[in-house]
Amino acid sequence: MRKVCVMGWPISHSRSPLIHNYWIEKYGVADALYERLAVEPEKLAGMLENFGKLSYVGGNVTVPHKEAVFSLLTDVDATARRLKAVNTIVTTPSGLQGRNTDGYGFVVNLLSHGWNPEGGPAVMIGAGGAARAVAAALEEAGVPELRIVNRTSARADTLIGDLGLQRATSYDWDHLDSALQGAGLLVQTTSLGMAGMPPLDIRLDALPLSALVTDIVYTPLITPLLAAAQVRGNVIVDGLGMLLHQAVPGFEAWFGVRPEVTPELRALVLADMGITEEEPGCC
Ligand code: ATR
Repeated sequence: MRKVCVMGWPISHSRSPLIHNYWIEKYGVADALYERLAVEPEKLAGMLENFGKLSYVGGNVTVPHKEAVFSLLTDVDATARRLKAVNTIVTTPSGLQGRNTDGYGFVVNLLSHGWNPEGGPAVMIGAGGAARAVAAALEEAGVPELRIVNRTSARADTLIGDLGLQRATSYDWDHLDSALQGAGLLVQTTSLGMAGMPPLDIRLDALPLSALVTDIVYTPLITPLLAAAQVRGNVIVDGLGMLLHQAVPGFEAWFGVRPEVTPELRALVLADMGITEEEPGCC
């Protein structure tokens, strides 16, 4: 049996098993299973030590283990090393390799909606863990300028320094309007707007109507920020596509088949969230 697991604490919310088991069936991958594993922080190191012995050909890593797994693995790819965080593990003959596909998933999702990275400055709200993968991927994708707006601007400065970003500037929260001027993309990376959290309360007046607006929060699918952007006429891209696309490289590495992100897969995950889209959205 070729097993893969997603490790987190808690883990019950993870939709990765749904995605990967759908692909396992769709592509007829024999003797394969993707499991959900609740791993307490103090049991993480022991889990990784026994990973191969437990027949795991790989795994995914989610909150709160991404940084801890990075520090426990010696073999990591360039992106994981840059972000100091791992979301994908591949079991190789020489041991476990850590990778990070979050930024890849983020960018491919936007590109699949027609985003042009060179179309204008990108504005990123937030400078937490999730923002790191997004910021690095935006710069790699070729945005001319990255404007980072965070409540605590010192944290944005730290992010820029840690990642060695070349075209990024930190803006004070009070200067959001000037950051939005002329932007081609607005990205929301904090947990504000997520179910159970307060909404992100910002004015979008200074944002060009040509800018694409996206949120990495996907529960709810249409966050208050996306709803407000859509009402004023901006094109919006919800955060579910990032989750779907970040899963592609891992599946390919474990099972040797590059899976496709399709409207059918998106509908499956949405149905699990209790959402039926009137028109099947893109992915
Ligand atoms: P994650 O790993 O999910 O990104 P995090 O590292 O705790 O979580 O980062 C949370 C982000 O949300 C940060 O950018 C945080 O801003 P600060 O750096 O100023 O703390 C932002 N955030 C959280 N609550 C916020 C609020 N009420 N208003 C504005 N930003 C908020």
